[in-house]
Amino acid sequence: MNIGVLGTGQISSSLVRGFCTDTAGKDLHFYVSPRNREKAAALAAAFPEQVTVCETNQQVVDQSEWVLLALLPPQAEEILRPLRFRQEQNIITLISDHGLKEIVSWTGPVRKAIRMVPLPFAELHMGPIVYCPKDTEVEQLFAPLGQVLALDGEEKLNTVLTMTALMSPFYLLIHKTVEWGKDHGLSDRTALDYMSSFFEALSAMAQRAPDSEAVRMLCCDTTKGGLNESAYQWIESGGGYTFWLQAMDQVWDRLNKTE
Ligand SMILES: NC(=O)c1ccc[n+]([C@@H]2O[C@H](COP(=O)([O-])OP(=O)(O)OC[C@H]3O[C@@H](n4cnc5c(N)ncnc54)[C@H](OP(=O)(O)O)[C@@H]3O)[C@@H](O)[C@H]2O)c1
Repeated sequence: MNIGVLGTGQISSSLVRGFCTDTAGKDLHFYVSPRNREKAAALAAAFPEQVTVCETNQQVVDQSEWVLLALLPPQAEEILRPLRFRQEQNIITLISDHGLKEIVSWTGPVRKAIRMVPLPFAELHMGPIVYCPKDTEVEQLFAPLGQVLALDGEEKLNTVLTMTALMSPFYLLIHKTVEWGKDHGLSDRTALDYMSSFFEALSAMAQRAPDSEAVRMLCCDTTKGGLNESAYQWIESGGGYTFWLQAMDQVWDRLNKTE
């Protein structure tokens, strides 16, 4: 199957790498847009049998049964409008700020139009990939890249998309706590190994919890007067959690303004 990629950037590179490093992806061929030139060249060099760098965006569309739209929101309309999509073609948009109706008004009618939120960990064949509307072909295609989950409606997709905006704050939290560990005597490697493994194990515990209340208990059932209690109470009384929720509110407002 031929898959086109419009916008060879961070997320589409992760997806192509994820597909090309899985045996289930061996029957896929990727026709990627010439921009970003370095990223497109890197994919073609890593997977010469499976990646072709096209000369133009129209060539990407012409070669493909499925086209991944991985363009930046402000550029998407200008890039998509002049392209000629075929009615029997399928598109999967990853573009954050625009809903399916708007995207299809730019591409014209297509066989299937899917909106999806993958994340860079798809390259490692792990983590959630949410999308809508539900589609068995999409589920089969993306299954090697992680846990594929259909949501019923774009409003729910926007809720999840808002949650994904915590990816960067989370990485910065790891970075800052690792730096703190280094300032207090640990090597970079030890501090990073410890914090990443620590958060992975905490997430595994949260994932096993039956509901959100059980996760709250994981927080509050720590030693009375202990180290964890003093840390979370310090953060809570200083409004630390409110900041995270406010960050989500402003992302949510942005997404829903542009729908
Ligand atoms: N990054 C993520 O984790 C993630 C996750 C889910 C969804 N998304 C969404 O996916 C989209 C892409 O995000 P990204 O992080 O991958 O951004 P990115 O790395 O900046 O990728 C955008 C790509 O579009 C290319 N481009 C610019 N003009 C073009 C043109 N005329 N024709 C074809 N390609 C062109 C850029 O090339 P140049 O560098 O040459 O300008 C760049 O490679 C965004 O809408 C984002 O919201 C991202």
